[in-house]
Amino acid sequence: MSETNPIFRLHQGLLREGPGSDETTLRTLGETGVSGPVRMADMGCGPGAASLVALRALPEAQVTAVDLHAPYLQTLEQRAHAAGLADRLETRVADMGDAGFEEGSLDLILCESALYFLGIEEGLRRWRPLLAPGGRIAFSDAIWIVKERPEEAEIFWMEYPAMTNRAGVREKVARAGFRTVADYVQPKSDWDNYLGPLGARAEALRPDADETLRQVLEGAEQEVALFRRWGSAYAYGVFVVEPA
Ligand SMILES: C[S@@+](CC[C@H](N)C(=O)[O-])C[C@H]1O[C@@H](n2cnc3c(N)ncnc32)[C@H](O)[C@@H]1O
Repeated sequence: MSETNPIFRLHQGLLREGPGSDETTLRTLGETGVSGPVRMADMGCGPGAASLVALRALPEAQVTAVDLHAPYLQTLEQRAHAAGLADRLETRVADMGDAGFEEGSLDLILCESALYFLGIEEGLRRWRPLLAPGGRIAFSDAIWIVKERPEEAEIFWMEYPAMTNRAGVREKVARAGFRTVADYVQPKSDWDNYLGPLGARAEALRPDADETLRQVLEGAEQEVALFRRWGSAYAYGVFVVEPA
């Protein structure tokens, strides 16, 4: 997609493309128990916030960041250079479902708010052969956290029909032949880190937006407003899993 694509115009310059924080990534890395010269892939890395956290937290790690959208990877490379971390980073413009990793070559696969593109079960099955012995996968995904789902929120999330709750994700993990080692619900502030800059960017673009861009901006504004109204009904959860 070109950079004049209205979706990418909206998202240009954002440092996170999903609910998250450095603290959450650090907690997740802690839950995985990895240390030392870890070979890690950040699948669907976007502009690479998680990769940067991992490079800092794991000073011997080699990180390969994978995304379909090349400009995100350029942003990540620039940020890694500026932080003196680029020598342990490789970026790969590729489909994360088939990104060219050798079998058994990864100690950790991290995937923050991107696994829904492949589907949890499909993604885990595809990644399993890539794991070295003892290797783990950590991913985050949107989950329902109430029994009675508000109708407005349910309509919005129809764009992700496979969305389930925490127990439902654990079941999917088990069906894919994995065991959940740890899981937790991300704090609400992780949404502010994503929706705050997204809402501000939408507002800034609005005065000069043509009709196509306006529709994209409305989608973003709807996402922000929905979380304000119904943010107690859904959350992002992190799941650390390993082959059963
Ligand atoms: C919601 S964003 C999350 C980005 C990043 N992990 C973060 O939390 O900021 C999802 C990312 O997945 C990427 N993506 C979607 N499908 C993909 C695929 N099949 N292979 C690689 N990347 C993909 C998108 O380009 C986007 O950067």
